[in-house]
Amino acid sequence: MSKIGTPLSSTATRVMLLGSGELGKEVIISLQRLGAEVIAVDRYPNAPGHQVAHRFHSMDMTDATALRNLVISEKPQLIIPEIEAIATDELARIEDDGLADVIPTARATQLTMNREGIRRLAAEELGLPTSKFAFAESLTELQVAIDHDIGYPCIVKPVMSSSGKGQSTIHGPENVHQAWNYAKAGGRVDRGRIIVEEIIPFDYEITLLTVRAVDENDNIATYFCAPIGHHQEQGDYIESWQPQVMSAIALTKAQQIAAAITGNLGGRGLFGVELFIKGDQVWFSEVSPRPHDTGMVTMVTQWQNEFELHARAILNLPVSTVLRNAGASAVIYGGMDEKGISFENLDKALNVAQTDLRLFGKPESFIRRRMGVALAYGDDTNDCRKRASLTAKAVTPVKASTRIL
Ligand SMILES: Nc1ncnc2c1ncn2[C@@H]1O[C@H](COP(=O)(O)OP(=O)(O)OP(=O)(O)O)[C@@H](O)[C@H]1O
Ligand SMILES: [Mg+2]
Repeated sequence: MSKIGTPLSSTATRVMLLGSGELGKEVIISLQRLGAEVIAVDRYPNAPGHQVAHRFHSMDMTDATALRNLVISEKPQLIIPEIEAIATDELARIEDDGLADVIPTARATQLTMNREGIRRLAAEELGLPTSKFAFAESLTELQVAIDHDIGYPCIVKPVMSSSGKGQSTIHGPENVHQAWNYAKAGGRVDRGRIIVEEIIPFDYEITLLTVRAVDENDNIATYFCAPIGHHQEQGDYIESWQPQVMSAIALTKAQQIAAAITGNLGGRGLFGVELFIKGDQVWFSEVSPRPHDTGMVTMVTQWQNEFELHARAILNLPVSTVLRNAGASAVIYGGMDEKGISFENLDKALNVAQTDLRLFGKPESFIRRRMGVALAYGDDTNDCRKRASLTAKAVTPVKASTRIL
């Protein structure tokens, strides 16, 4: 049953975002448009989502007691985790105690916060095709895994990390030590556990945005967006486009894999299923139980973008994943370590035909921090990629002291 009350009243439909970065900000805007009351939480003040919510809090979301106390005081009906670094065991207790529903489910957030949980589920329980993989807790274990099974080249990642942190490629025995140290330093929680994976020589990689939402008979159904192609550098996305052209066989396999993994994770909401494609072959890589950074392109390509789809799905509203036109996104980095920066040449950027821009409003810039995204739409994906990239390049981050008013 779908029903939405009046924000800031006793009938309010209250939703709490755990993590309020650029993706959370867009989810909040979508929820606000549908009349939900939104509480944004992040680890630092003035996070992008804080700036558009009814109320906001800054706290360490890995602190289980603090998290529970906040949920008890704010009484959200729904909790949307937007990041992985959360006390997910406490989320499970919050759900079990009937305090709130976790989106898509507390179990999904537990499984996906650690590469081991989701990889074992996909490969061992569901039998989905993945790269060969092994886990290691010491340099010796890593070397044994490579020698006995995985081989060279391979890729090492901390089990708990995102956006390419601590990830590196091993080309031969001479890189093993360095990759081990790099992964140990880059993990979210220093447990020193890593995954080592065979490198898949894919033709291209995609994100298949997959939505679990109610259908007209009030049953949960699975809907797919058109595949999104993307380009990663140092494990971080820099460019994405939609649709990615695929063979009919590969697309069917991709959808089957996405349906299997999201069906097992359950609940309602949008998932970003990451897949590698070579010819008609498809490998599962990982899944986010939430909107995906590469999916920002949907802000100019779909009638309902990935954030609106997430909001609708969790509020028990029907969804449509129809593609309106082709498009592309290109990331804008801060390029400097500095607080309160400005962005110049926005006129030049937006004079590129059929483009749009999001500046996230992050209070502090880092050299490799994503501060905004350029978007381009049109008929031809390659042409959109060029225009998105031109727009992103034109945007010029500058220090506060050099700002021209
Ligand atoms: N086994 C592999 N074979 C080939 N390429 C890989 C493999 N694993 C990772 N990559 C490349 O590195 C990128 C990042 O890897 P992965 O998605 O596992 O890390 P991540 O830190 O979770 O990234 P993000 O949070 O940005 O999704 C992939 O999108 C892909 O381009
Ligand atoms: Mg990834």
